[in-house]
Amino acid sequence: MTTKHFNPRAKHHFAGRTCSIAGVGSYVPERILTNADLEKLVDTSDEWITTRTGIKERRIAAAGELTSDLATKAALRAMEMAGVTAEQIDLIIVASITPDMPFPNTACLVQQKIGARRIPSFDIEAACSGFIYALEVGQQFIQSHTYETVLVIGAEKLSAITNWKDRNTCVLFGDGAGAAVLRHRAAAGGLLTTVLGADGAKAELLSMPAGGSACPATAESVAQGLHFLRMDGKETFKNAVQAMCSAAKEALRRCQIDIKQIKCIIPHQANRRIIDAVGERLEATPEQLFVNLHKYGNTSAASVAIALDEAVREGRVQHGDLILIVAFGAGLTWGAAVIEW
Ligand code: UT7
Repeated sequence: MTTKHFNPRAKHHFAGRTCSIAGVGSYVPERILTNADLEKLVDTSDEWITTRTGIKERRIAAAGELTSDLATKAALRAMEMAGVTAEQIDLIIVASITPDMPFPNTACLVQQKIGARRIPSFDIEAACSGFIYALEVGQQFIQSHTYETVLVIGAEKLSAITNWKDRNTCVLFGDGAGAAVLRHRAAAGGLLTTVLGADGAKAELLSMPAGGSACPATAESVAQGLHFLRMDGKETFKNAVQAMCSAAKEALRRCQIDIKQIKCIIPHQANRRIIDAVGERLEATPEQLFVNLHKYGNTSAASVAIALDEAVREGRVQHGDLILIVAFGAGLTWGAAVIEW
């Protein structure tokens, strides 16, 4: 699919110059935790995990390997693809629910690790939608001519907040990071539109109750497992399908693009059944859907970023192709974006 196949009026809503993804990169830790490994930890089976989620294995960071380390490795790969040096970066945004620590923010730590200048660096927390939120924020700075080069990263060490005794959640998540370098490129449409949304009324569905100011760490909070991720899986599932479909449809509507014109759909990699349900409702073909969750599980803010990097490096996306990315997560939050590559 090339630019000539879609309606150029789609670009009319742009207030400023366009913002493109000049390079992508990702990194996952070396250690692989398979479904067979999990069978030894909790009362589960490869058969249950595979049929209910599609996940076969996930990556687990080493003890001293931090979210900022994963983020740094992904960022360096994205910078290499973009042909951008650390000195050229004007802004760093990291999306994560597992920052190295509550503060300082992970973006500041990445700034130091990649050897960037003393540029503004901050985190965004929008759970699994975080990368799309961060893309939209980064894009605003490019479009407004405030900055030339923005580094956007989704990075997670979810293994640090996983209750390895809870079979309802521990089979689902993994660690990893994905990054994108944003710049204006005259030759590409770039980010054509972004749709973001949230519903705080459903905050309870997916959360980590302790560790913030509402419930600081105490011996009791630790004993109660309040520092682990919790999820109402069934309700989250329903909301994920609904929100991802409506966000994707709204993004396509705003660009006046038909789903058939999309070369590659990159959905948040939480559950194969969610991806299939979203694909079906969007009337997409299985070939359009990019899926890598069998290898990594749900990596939250890193999920779409890693998948985008893999899709690009596997040649699934060529210059001029249209991509639809769509995500959903705790908050509840959701987001979708149409990108002309
Ligand atoms: O990234 C943010 C968004 N996250 C998501 O979108 C995740 C959304 N939710 C899901 O993906 C699915 O709801 C799950 C994969 C979490 C669960 O699938 P489900 O089909 O909704 O299963 P369920 O929660 O209804 O559980 C069915 C049964 C239960 O047993 P009973 O009560 O029916 O006897 C669970 O205890 O499966 C049991 N179960 C397991 N059995 C073996 C739950 N986890 C496991 C497990 N192994 N790991």
